[in-house]
Order: sequence, then C-alpha cells, then structure tokens
Amino acid sequence: MAIHKILVTGANGQLGWELAQTTSAYPNFEFVFVDRNAMDLSKPDEFNGIFELFNPDAIINTAAYTAVDKAESEKELATTINAAAVKQLAHIAKERNIPFITYSTDYVFNGNATSPYLTDTTIEPVNFYGQTKAEGEQLAIAENPATIIIRTSWVFSSHGNNFVKTMMRLMKERDALNIVGDQKGRPTYAKDLALASIKMIELLNAGKNIKGTYHYANTGETTWFGFAEKIKALAGLECDLTAITSDQFPTPAKRPAYSVLDTQKIEKDLNMQIPHWETALQECIKKIQAS
Ligand SMILES: NC(=O)c1ccc[n+]([C@@H]2O[C@H](COP(=O)([O-])OP(=O)(O)OC[C@H]3O[C@@H](n4cnc5c(N)ncnc54)[C@H](OP(=O)(O)O)[C@@H]3O)[C@@H](O)[C@H]2O)c1
Repeated sequence: MAIHKILVTGANGQLGWELAQTTSAYPNFEFVFVDRNAMDLSKPDEFNGIFELFNPDAIINTAAYTAVDKAESEKELATTINAAAVKQLAHIAKERNIPFITYSTDYVFNGNATSPYLTDTTIEPVNFYGQTKAEGEQLAIAENPATIIIRTSWVFSSHGNNFVKTMMRLMKERDALNIVGDQKGRPTYAKDLALASIKMIELLNAGKNIKGTYHYANTGETTWFGFAEKIKALAGLECDLTAITSDQFPTPAKRPAYSVLDTQKIEKDLNMQIPHWETALQECIKKIQAS
C-alpha cells in the first residue's frame, strides 16, 4: 500500500518539531501532527478513535516520557507512555498493516562497554527511564515484528529543552561552570534524525524491507564537557569550564559512562552518510542565534 498520510505524535517535542520543519520538502506526503492534547499517550485506550479519525498510512511516534530523573519516581506514568502506549501503537499498526516507527535510547544499555553498542548488543537498562524504553521495544516487536525502533542519544535542536540551549543560557548567566567529563556519547541533531526517519518512510514506500532495531546518532563522539567546550567556541561565549566526574554531579537516575551507539546498520540500509555532530551543532547554534 502506498504511503501518503503520516501521523506524527509529539508535535511539540524536539524531534516532532524538526519533522514539521521538513515537510515542505516532501509534497508527496501529507503529515498530520498531534500534540498531547490531540493524542495523550497516557491513554492508550483512546488511540483507536484517533486512528479512525485520521486513517493514516504510517505512524511516527516521537512522543515519549523523557524526564529521565523524574521517571525514577513517576514510574507508572513513564511505563504507560513509554511501554504500554508503544505496544498499543504497534498493535494498531499491525491491524491496519501500516509502518510504525518509534524511538528508543542509548540508556537501554548498561554504560559499561568500551566499544560502540551494536543494535543486537544485549540490553541492560542503566536507569528506570531506560527500563521503560526497553520494555516498549520488546512489547512492540512481540506485538508487531514489522515495528521499526530507532535508538538515539544526546538529542539537541534549536527547539525545546536540551543541553545546547541550557549551556548557551548558563554560559551567558555565569562566569564559570562545572561539566561532567567522564561520560562518553554521540550527540544527535533532531533535524538529522528527522531526515533519516523520512528517508526510511520513502524506502518503505518504495518496497524496501526495513524493520527491527536501528541506531541513529551524529558521527564522532565526545563527553558532555567536550560538547560544552564546542558549544562555547561555536557560540562565541565567555565562560570558564571545568571538567568534573559523575560522582561530583549526583543525579536521581544513573547515567552511563560509555554510551556510544554504532550506526553502521542504518548507514548501510538507508545508503546514507551521517553528518558529524560538530557540523550539526554549528547549524543548530546559528539557528538559535538567529531566532
Ligand atoms: N532527548 C534526548 O536526549 C533523547 C535521547 C535518547 C532517546 N530519545 C528519544 O527520542 C524520542 C524523541 O525525543 P525528543 O528529544 O524529541 O523528546 P522531547 O523533546 O522531550 O519531546 C517529547 C514529546 O513527548 C510529548 N509527551 C510527553 N508525554 C506525553 C503524553 N502523555 N502524551 C502525548 N505526548 C506526550 C511531550 O509533550 P509536551 O511538549 O506537551 O511536553 C513532548 O512534545 C523519544 O522517544 C525519546 O525517548 C531522546
């Protein structure tokens, strides 16, 4: 069945918003964006009515419970949104025989590796948020083996809440900042992830067999401290940055020491080159400064 109408959840999130910015480049698709008022992921029982209303040919689920530290105490809500709702979306996609793309996280891994995580590396969630996302992955695949899961990491955008915008604000407000320097990962520009997601829909539309788990992150790896240093340089800000250890910055949810995702599978299957995170960051900072 040809894909024309694509339902996108999480309209106001980083990824949902970036998807909305790209739609004019894809006139053959009709995108329907729903925010939490139009489709509340904490109420999976209501999904059927929404699908009857919009009757989409594909689903991209960018909405999620993403408050990593709060998830440690708001366990039930985080599980409903990140696991039960994802299962229900997978079920509806199977019933309607339409593609379903949803997103997961580097936090499904334990953070103890020393080389990049492959899509089939054994998962062992590092915190409760990671556990809810891992549950969502497993329930969705069991319900509907055609489900596409894209794990990503360290997402930033000119829209929404993220490390880049927080750092730019704090560097303007303060003379000095301490930043964790012993956690490694791959930053991801939500715009690049949005483009990769639409490329997936285009390939599915052309009949390519894409399903299962993928990893997407910008190329190159860094620490939060390295990320902050680059933000400072590209934004032309003055602030003394000091690298500290994770022990010196305790958080309710544990963070992984090593969180680097291997993205070779998506690069091969989508025949695409992923931009370096520094290139993506430069573009994002220009947008923030222009706004
Ligand atoms: N951000 C990261 O660093 C990161 C890292 C790894 C994986 N991921 C995954 O990547 C995907 C996209 O993340 P993102 O960065 O775009 O997240 P985000 O900016 O936090 O956006 C999440 C969106 O989900 C919406 N949402 C929350 N609860 C909802 C509910 N009950 N019903 C409907 N919508 C609800 C939020 O709505 P409101 O705007 O109304 O709050 C928000 O628009 C998610 O699956 C996330 O878990 C993100």
